[in-house]
Amino acid sequence: MDTVGHRMKPFVTIVLVICIYLPGSDSIGMYGKSVRFPAKTANSFVRLHAADFSSLTAFTVCLRAASEETRSYSLFSYATDFHANELLLWQESKTQFQLELGTLQIAFNLPEMNGLLRHICVTWESQEGEITVWVNGRRSVRKVDGKGQVVKGLGQFILGQEQDSVGGGFDINQSFVGEITDVHMWDHVLQSNDIKTVSQGCLRYGGNIIDWGSTPYTFEGIVAIEDNKDCPL
Ligand SMILES: *[C@@H]1O[C@H](CO)[C@@H](O)[C@H](O)[C@H]1NC(C)=O
Repeated sequence: MDTVGHRMKPFVTIVLVICIYLPGSDSIGMYGKSVRFPAKTANSFVRLHAADFSSLTAFTVCLRAASEETRSYSLFSYATDFHANELLLWQESKTQFQLELGTLQIAFNLPEMNGLLRHICVTWESQEGEITVWVNGRRSVRKVDGKGQVVKGLGQFILGQEQDSVGGGFDINQSFVGEITDVHMWDHVLQSNDIKTVSQGCLRYGGNIIDWGSTPYTFEGIVAIEDNKDCPL
């Protein structure tokens, strides 16, 4: 993907590195935690070890994110041997959000991404190909694509980078800089009431494919995993 790069700020990066955790071993779940990618890198990421599935004919992916980047970047990257962009949530620009399903790119014009955490959900189902994006519990226009398609299993879920091959092929200019939390994925389309509930705060139940509270994760590079001060608990 073509991207417009950003000038690095070496001084800021050096100061932040001192405060950042070093990579750890496998951990279970990030309930009440946020992941922060403070710097543009080609090797910082979080891998979510999601529940196995063979293929999906529907999904809901939700996450909460904030980024002040003006270039393109990946919000959520799922790659398989069949397609590096098997399921990609991509920010093409501050106002253009894109769902990619294999070779399909479905763009939505949404309120500008900025430094405030926002809740984003995307739902898709194969039968009608209906795609809906939700921002802070508010629904976008519906679009139609990927009718009859499936999302294949046995891939890798990566936050912070965009995969050009399973688990790799990262591009510094497509990396995510900002904060991300409450990542969940279901194998079905959540109804509007559930989306609204999910968008309102810390979940007491999670996705059946990715559950932020219990899905094991690993990370590498400059990644800060910090208490999410939004949690009312
Ligand atoms: C990233 O973008 C910068 C600025 O446009 C460019 O100089 C650099 O070559 C790009 N890096 C990669 C890996 O594409």
